[in-house]
Amino acid sequence: MSTVAVRPIVSSSSSSTTSPAGVDPTGLPSRVTTNLPISALTPEDAALRARITALCHEGWALWDRFEATAAERRFHPFVASDYAVVLEALWPGRCRGLRFLEWGSANGLITVMADLLGFTACGIELDANLSRTAHELARQFNSSARFVTGSFLPTGYRWRPSDGDARTGTLGTGSSGYQELGLALDDFDVVFGYPWDGEEPMMRDLMRSYGRADALLLLHSATTGITGYRGGRVVAGDWWPSTGDR
Ligand SMILES: C[S@@+](CC[C@H](N)C(=O)[O-])C[C@H]1O[C@@H](n2cnc3c(N)ncnc32)[C@H](O)[C@@H]1O
Repeated sequence: MSTVAVRPIVSSSSSSTTSPAGVDPTGLPSRVTTNLPISALTPEDAALRARITALCHEGWALWDRFEATAAERRFHPFVASDYAVVLEALWPGRCRGLRFLEWGSANGLITVMADLLGFTACGIELDANLSRTAHELARQFNSSARFVTGSFLPTGYRWRPSDGDARTGTLGTGSSGYQELGLALDDFDVVFGYPWDGEEPMMRDLMRSYGRADALLLLHSATTGITGYRGGRVVAGDWWPSTGDR
């Protein structure tokens, strides 16, 4: 059955079963590195990478604090993305002013990262405590990222897969967050999600149903990295064509 949610798998590079991907035994985000030789970066880009490295340090510290309270709850769907992988995916799309939305923005790390990279960034998160943390993170990093508490599912959306199994895994329900944002899903150029296993088909359907056909959907998987979709299809080549190439 494809729609039963399975916890996103923690990367094999993680040092313990309780640490998220990208955390080394010292607790430092070892994978927040650049693939480019540092000399290839402009001074502005080097400064931006340094700022985002500091942000990721804070993100992993927030994650550790969240994990430390795990025993107090039965289950929570928040598992952090591999921030270094997300950074490499977003980096080539920086400084274009594209509108970015994170579905289930948790502690806000990725939305703030997108804002620092020059996207106009928003996040929608169901858990009010995580949303509060996200607002605080944005304040701490002097970021204009916007967060609302609510569901990223638009009012009226129904998941109706052809096999009839309409379970939505770990996804929760609540008032849709778009009204408070003052934006609809089809206002966004880039949408990011980190689905649990089995939730990808619903996210793709949601984007096909309510997103713009030329918008980019980025879905992160702990096992296969990030896949880009546009108009319902996997984008095989460059996710970030120059203006006018599409
Ligand atoms: C797997 S975590 C991903 C967190 C973050 N996007 C990241 O990549 O690090 C999924 C997040 O989605 C949130 N969530 C679940 N259902 C939601 C819904 N219907 N609307 C908004 N957020 C939701 C959960 O509370 C959780 O924080």
